[in-house]
Amino acid sequence: AQTVTRGDDGVVAVAGIPVTRLAEEFGTPAYILDEDDFRARARAWRTAFGPDADVFYAGKAFLSRAVVRWLDEEGLNLDVCSGGELATALSAGMPAERIAFHGNNKSVEEIRRAVEAGVGRIVLDSFQEIVRVAHTAQSLGKRQKVQIRITVGVEAHTHEFIATAHEDQKFGIPLAGGQAAEAVRRALQLDGLELIGIHSHIGSQIFDMSGFEVAAHRVVGLLKDIRDEHGVELPEIDLGGGLGIAYTSADDPREPHEIAKALTEIVTRECEAARLRTPRISVEPGRAIVGPTAFTLYEVGTVKPLDGLRTYVSVDGGMSDNIRTALYDAEYSVALVSRASDAEPMLARVVGKHCESGDIVVRDAFLPADLAPGDLVAVPATGAYCRSMASNYNHVLRPPVVAVRDGAARVIVRRETEEDLLRLDVG
Ligand code: LLP
Repeated sequence: AQTVTRGDDGVVAVAGIPVTRLAEEFGTPAYILDEDDFRARARAWRTAFGPDADVFYAGKAFLSRAVVRWLDEEGLNLDVCSGGELATALSAGMPAERIAFHGNNKSVEEIRRAVEAGVGRIVLDSFQEIVRVAHTAQSLGKRQKVQIRITVGVEAHTHEFIATAHEDQKFGIPLAGGQAAEAVRRALQLDGLELIGIHSHIGSQIFDMSGFEVAAHRVVGLLKDIRDEHGVELPEIDLGGGLGIAYTSADDPREPHEIAKALTEIVTRECEAARLRTPRISVEPGRAIVGPTAFTLYEVGTVKPLDGLRTYVSVDGGMSDNIRTALYDAEYSVALVSRASDAEPMLARVVGKHCESGDIVVRDAFLPADLAPGDLVAVPATGAYCRSMASNYNHVLRPPVVAVRDGAARVIVRRETEEDLLRLDVG
């Protein structure tokens, strides 16, 4: 967890720095990210999976050049899913062979850049893309390492928008009806491709290991069919990301070593039964690494008690810096962090400053009844899918990401300015 402490005055400090000082120096709202915590989580995944497996951090959760350097130093690989993420990774010096390129509709231009850069793998998501990547690689005189993403037909118990292994959705090629087998047939025929493995990602914010186990079982089943039909044993499988984190005290997340143990055991067992060489396993955690490492620091602007209902607490950000509550009904917690209070708790709803009533940051929370304008509140576990999904709705400026470590704080993504907004407006 983050190195968070609360002083005698009630002021919370992270990595030894009081939040009041962070607010003064960097303004609010701001994402405050604990670098040591990030590195420790990255390392925990790396260690849990060991030298015979690969951990690809999913850049979509949050990506910046500093993050890429930390990952590089901690021995992780990187999963990118757009030209923009690829550019960020390359510009921060991540070796291309440690990058995997994902996406259900990569443009020809993105594919060309990825192949030219020499990415370690492209994850193929459709029949058209098999041909597209093969042609692009061939035209560049290259043979591109690829995996094929399949949907294994698992219903992950998570929000519909972030579940990805049932068959009625846009990602991957269904295992059902022999479609994945057909995709493998085509990929093996094309000179521009070197098929190195099969990929499955079942969804996100998952706590139950059984979905991963069923997925691993079905992916190994496909490897066996491929061996029987083509006499080829594919050397790798990727089981995606999706491990859940604790947003509130109700969540009980699995640890990386539990995941590593469960996945390695099932793959090894199934491969032994099928007399297959055990493939190299890779995983793609995003949220589980960066999610818990940051909190959003907001300043309270207005406090509006509605008799018999609740108190609306408006902060200086909202759905533009955290869309997850509005989009997924996500649950967060919130705390007063700039002073002590022994006032009674009141039922509060923390809302943003945007022009719509769905602009909710924390739906139900208890905050001290003496909460007042100028107080600082923190919403934990906003490291993943908050800055990376931030918008400029209402021309609100996207907050900075401030990395803290050993009593020092530095901006790794600066706050947007009105000039940034106006620079794009060339009409
Ligand atoms: N690998 C693939 C192929 C993915 O599509 C994803 C996430 C990951 C790995 C990383 O999943 P994670 O370990 O972070 O759960 N915006 C949503 C989450 C969307 C996830 C999309 N794919 C949210 O805020 O909950």
